[in-house]
Amino acid sequence: MRKTLFAANWKMYKTPAEALSFVQAFRPLVASQTRDEIVLCPSMLSLAPVLDAVKGSNISVGAQNMHSSDEGAFTGETSPIMLKAIGCTHVLIGHSERRQYFNETDDSVNLKLKSALAHGIVPIVCVGELLAERETGHTSEVLHRQVGNALAGIAPEHTAPIVIAYEPVWAIGTGKTATPELAADAHLTIRTTVAGILGRDIADKMRILYGGSVKPDNAASLLNQPEIDGALVGGASLDPASFAKIVNYTSF
Ligand code: 13P
Repeated sequence: MRKTLFAANWKMYKTPAEALSFVQAFRPLVASQTRDEIVLCPSMLSLAPVLDAVKGSNISVGAQNMHSSDEGAFTGETSPIMLKAIGCTHVLIGHSERRQYFNETDDSVNLKLKSALAHGIVPIVCVGELLAERETGHTSEVLHRQVGNALAGIAPEHTAPIVIAYEPVWAIGTGKTATPELAADAHLTIRTTVAGILGRDIADKMRILYGGSVKPDNAASLLNQPEIDGALVGGASLDPASFAKIVNYTSF
């Protein structure tokens, strides 16, 4: 009942020319795919050329971050109005790298989430525990706090577009994927938290993606878990054939 979503987070990789050659190679590989929502998240600089290159295809384009304000004296930032104006439909919010290196907090995530919703941009809100938090038994508490703060003050009737991405920080870029069972368990914790805040019906409809060392050879076992509604892919999304294999995974 929840449509699977695959998002490529290219982080700070690919020049505009490299992004374009990715799209040229990738488009035909997923052209027949109808069951999924496919989103490429390139750097800000490559958004416009990638949007142009995916025209008429089943591929959408998202930003990796945005400011919560419509406009203002915020040097170096990009506003939701600007993203919307060029045709961006999705945005990553609160990625752990932004929390770790760029002072993203639960409060700024909440502001950005509200702003994305107000502008009709699909927010993909990233949450996930650090290794030390998992090892000391604090995973549920961290997820509960991050999800609760992200959703604070948002009216249930505005929450339909929200996507949550569970990305355990210890699994990002490390090759250490969460086992399907461990990921599904964390997704259940997140869904239960959402149900407590917004009600069971909204929680059952909300898509929760898994991210952290998703590769072509582990995609199917993760996506086979009913709790896992898609993937947010870093390293393995940089190569068109590899990301296409993930999108075209066969369930078993
Ligand atoms: P990797 O797939 O490279 O582990 O990155 C995951 C991620 O951070 C996606 O947002």
